[in-house]
Amino acid sequence: MKKAFITGITGQDGHYLSKLLLEKDYEVHGTIRRSSSINTGRIDPLISKYQNTKQLNLYYSDLLDSSSLNMLINKIQPDETYNLAAQSHVAVSFKNPIFTTQTGTLGPLSLLEAVRNSDKEIKYYQASSSEMYGGQMKGKLNEESLLNPKSPYAAAKVFAHHMTSIYRDSYSLFCSNGILFNHESPHRGETFVTRKITRAASRIKLGLQNKLTLGNLEASRDWGFAGDYVEAMWMMLQHDTPDDWVIATGETYTVRQFLEATFKKLDLNWEEYVQTSDKYLRPNEVEHLLGDPTKAKEELGWEPKTSFDSLVEMMVESDLNLAKREKVLVAEGLLEPTWENPTS
Ligand code: NAP
Ligand code: GDD
Repeated sequence: MKKAFITGITGQDGHYLSKLLLEKDYEVHGTIRRSSSINTGRIDPLISKYQNTKQLNLYYSDLLDSSSLNMLINKIQPDETYNLAAQSHVAVSFKNPIFTTQTGTLGPLSLLEAVRNSDKEIKYYQASSSEMYGGQMKGKLNEESLLNPKSPYAAAKVFAHHMTSIYRDSYSLFCSNGILFNHESPHRGETFVTRKITRAASRIKLGLQNKLTLGNLEASRDWGFAGDYVEAMWMMLQHDTPDDWVIATGETYTVRQFLEATFKKLDLNWEEYVQTSDKYLRPNEVEHLLGDPTKAKEELGWEPKTSFDSLVEMMVESDLNLAKREKVLVAEGLLEPTWENPTS
């Protein structure tokens, strides 16, 4: 049985990756952070399913606590390590630049050091990001494209990206960077724009919300499905040699187009409900992202399986079900109605 160590297992990708690896009979070890409210919601079904086996194991840790990372790598001796943990919200990285940078730079470096100092050969996956490109190029971005970070988040990702290649080249370690473009799902955090839209539109449909406030509607992103993208992470660590790969769909849509597609699925006219506010504008916007996944297709045999329309459909269906449950709780007086998520 292969062993995988995953940081950030409670996040969107952590959910899909741990599910994939458990289905492949891996023993999965993941780190969770102590929080005043329970943060394992996304993986609770997996925790229940595997509670009587030793296949899923969770540990308190933090990327800033290098001693716990060292201890865990030594104790678990994983075959594969997936570093998914990060303060992953770009807008928040401008508000909390030091935490974002420390987590995004010292975190991966501590983990790389733990891997380097281990007697066992451990493969390492780094969650790199299309944000590193900065979004000024109109053409398709590939592994050779210039990195031009525009936020503390992206700058930290560039550092970790380079350190991953430096450790690969300097110590002959099996370290790979997955340069993933935006990927979404029903498990996407509610403050990222796609999920903010599908959640709000579903609540509007059921009368639980009456408006949606957004920032820049003209930004465009290459949006794929997270379930497809975690397969690429695993494929990278099964490849003969370590390297860097772009994972994307090769199509880009604006926030406005995502809005239109979502509201249309619910027979609503988005213009009646959506307003914009400077509150959601960023100090330095990444305007346009479009990826070229040719290398991943040719070398890993990876291709996206989910279309833009199917992604929107999947997210709307899931959020409509969530809103229906919420409506029942509100009707029974078990939940206070809220009109718009104040932190979104
Ligand atoms: P996510 O849903 O925000 O999950 C982030 C995970 O990191 C959560 O488990 C979070 O724990 C954990 N975390 C945050 N700070 C930490 C710290 N200091 N120490 C330990 N754990 C910490 O992000 P995601 O969408 O799954 O993305 C996974 C990774 O891929 C991230 O590194 C992200 O930057 C990168 N990425 C994402 C995309 C995308 O479009 N989704 C694209 C490119 C790259 P809590 O649950 O306790 O908050
Ligand atoms: N979050 C958010 N909220 N974004 C908004 C809003 C809003 O109300 N209104 C417009 N946008 C625009 C943002 O300005 C940005 O141009 C675009 O929608 C996408 O924003 P997010 O969904 O927050 O994602 P992101 O592209 O900034 O970052 C995500 O993708 C990166 C990969 O390119 C994150 O998952 C990062 O962790 C990831 O690296």
